[in-house]
Amino acid sequence: MAKYLRVLYIGDIMGRPGREVVKAMLPKFLEKYAIDLTIAQAENVSHGKGMTPAHMRELQAAGVDVFTGGNHTIERPATLGLLDDPYVPVLAPINQMTVKPGWGVKTFESKAGTVLIISLLGTTFSQRAELATNPLLAVDNELSKRTEAYVARIVNFHGDLSSEKRVIGYYLDGRVSAVIGDHWHVPTADPMILPNGTAHITDVGMCGTLHTSLGVTKEIIISRWRDETTQRNEIAEGGPYQFNAVCINVDTTTGLATTIEQIQEYKDSI
Ligand SMILES: [Fe+2]
Ligand SMILES: [Fe+2]
Repeated sequence: MAKYLRVLYIGDIMGRPGREVVKAMLPKFLEKYAIDLTIAQAENVSHGKGMTPAHMRELQAAGVDVFTGGNHTIERPATLGLLDDPYVPVLAPINQMTVKPGWGVKTFESKAGTVLIISLLGTTFSQRAELATNPLLAVDNELSKRTEAYVARIVNFHGDLSSEKRVIGYYLDGRVSAVIGDHWHVPTADPMILPNGTAHITDVGMCGTLHTSLGVTKEIIISRWRDETTQRNEIAEGGPYQFNAVCINVDTTTGLATTIEQIQEYKDSI
């Protein structure tokens, strides 16, 4: 069994530009960091809402192994069939009210052994609290049921506030290999190994067009804010582009992390 497992976690892939960025830039990072397992946040893959089977296959061909979920995952009916199949590595947050048992936790067979992956949704904002149950209790419940020997346990926390994302990192410190925050599409400068060996970052950021509001055309957002218009969000197209991820080294004998490294790269064209 390999002593170390190198995991790449890629931030929210935002629509077509996000997919193009991943296809263009991921191969370089897979090689540079000798990655064994690639996980990506997929709630926005297909025009901002969920992921179609065709887009999943496109990203799998580019090297993504597992897809975590967020508040937008279940908004696309075509994604539900992927979630329902325990052998398809697509997840939705386990504590989201309308998510079925099994959609929020899946395993992946890596070269080092079985990896457990769990998706959670934050509840700090009241709107989301109505949509999801307590994520701390949900993850406790899930971990307590798991007696198998996993070489790594990766938790994705899709939450609003930096404080809740950091605190759940401490809550799970020493019990899982990594707690990776996302949802806000802006990377935070705080990757670290917590005191008991869990890798953590508050927000890993996104992949897609750079000069935008979280991947959405910024002019629409400004107009809606300033003039109180009701324009719908449009995913921004074109460069420059951004790729955001973290690379985590897991010691498979302990299931804990030894390093976490942030990757932030910009490219004018792809
Ligand atoms: Fe997102
Ligand atoms: Fe989200």
